Amino acid sequence: MSTLRFPDNFVWGAATAAYQIEGAATDDGRGPSIWDTFSRTPGRVHQGHTGDVACDHYHRYADDVALMAELGLAAYRFSVAWPRIQPDGTGPVNPRGLDFYDRLTDALLARGIDPIVTLYHWDLPQALQDRGGWTNRETAEHFATYATAVHTRLGDRIRTWTTLNEPWCSAYLGYGNGVHAPGEQDPGAAFAAVHHLLLGHGLAARALRAAGADTVGITINPADVRAADPDSAADKAAVRLVDGLHNRIFLDPLLRAAYPDDVLEHVVRLVEPTFLRDGDEKLIAAPIDLLGINYYAPTYVAGRPDGAGDGAYPGTVGAVEFLPPVGPLTDMGWMIEPAGLTRLLERIATDYPGVPLMITENGAAFGDKTGTDAPDGVGQVMDADRIAYLDGHLRAAHEAISRGVDLRGYLVWSLLDNFEWAEGYRRRFGIIHVDYLTQRRTPKSSARWYQEVISRNGL
Ligand code: FCB
Repeated sequence: MSTLRFPDNFVWGAATAAYQIEGAATDDGRGPSIWDTFSRTPGRVHQGHTGDVACDHYHRYADDVALMAELGLAAYRFSVAWPRIQPDGTGPVNPRGLDFYDRLTDALLARGIDPIVTLYHWDLPQALQDRGGWTNRETAEHFATYATAVHTRLGDRIRTWTTLNEPWCSAYLGYGNGVHAPGEQDPGAAFAAVHHLLLGHGLAARALRAAGADTVGITINPADVRAADPDSAADKAAVRLVDGLHNRIFLDPLLRAAYPDDVLEHVVRLVEPTFLRDGDEKLIAAPIDLLGINYYAPTYVAGRPDGAGDGAYPGTVGAVEFLPPVGPLTDMGWMIEPAGLTRLLERIATDYPGVPLMITENGAAFGDKTGTDAPDGVGQVMDADRIAYLDGHLRAAHEAISRGVDLRGYLVWSLLDNFEWAEGYRRRFGIIHVDYLTQRRTPKSSARWYQEVISRNGL
């Protein structure tokens, strides 16, 4: 087997998000978020699961950091829960909420693990949703205020600041097809949310920079959009449309200071973009130092007049057919196609040159072939399918580097099994198994494998 070495200083780490692992939903003055509301709404989340307890990381963070250190992680990407910092989304800062991230940061630094903070991983304070959430322009301004409050407390120790995680999901799943909180289905709301999320990013990025933040970035989940038939003009048009709605609507304003004309024309055909104001695009394009890329699976589309489309892509009904994924699949039903990661990284590096990239999420849900929620009799969880997935994607990332992509690191999703949004706890992405009855952590064979990869800086 050939060995693949990654560049010196390549950052190896793992990622999580507040609502998915913390639990402690009412501790120390935390206010309700849209995910508390959504998960309590019958029929929204698998079997009514909630993040009330999750992995109880809020109380067990010290043990979890010890596990990270054992695996040799150089970096840990976590998110801050806005409702812990400002329970109502605006107004006075709750110091007890900040205390938790203070303790977590110190625990990481004491083990030599670099904290990478994400300020928004989907848990909007419910009080802001009651005023329209991301459809309300003011939310963008409140977000910058909140970002500044977190930086004021942690800026002396945290170098890398990420504004948003996957605004595509917040906007289109939250307000387009309603699969995520707050569960709305309204194209106008979805596009307003896209714009206000981007604006919030721009305002927060500027505020963080002014406050002296070292590295400022955003994490997106760009799609590798492929034509069902590469020679079909209709399929190529479908690719162009979906690529516009998924990728260029974010990348162009972020890195070229303007929405693409074809995307704007599409938006205007569906809604009146009253949310767009002069000067916004300039604000959104605040310079960034790092672009986070989350990648899981490719998207195959065909252009068809009877296409079923998807509410997550407004205006695709009667135009686009999203092809059913072809196996082998992960437990999410997602295709496994590492080459998609290479293509995506190369495309971004080519079309939007000059920004260093980091894979801020990549991983797979598999059921861990023990057949139950618990490790087998000798305390092991053998997840060969996850190892194969990670191995394939690391090779794909390496291939992108060898083709010249400035890729700085790889963060596996996820450190722990956790609350997988609408899927609840039934989808396990962790390299560490969590027994939700006892909160016992068991590193899976993938964790041991990853530890090896890190120690060798390669495969
Ligand atoms: C991403 C999310 C992350 C996790 C993975 C599986 O879209 O950012 O929280 O749910 O998918």
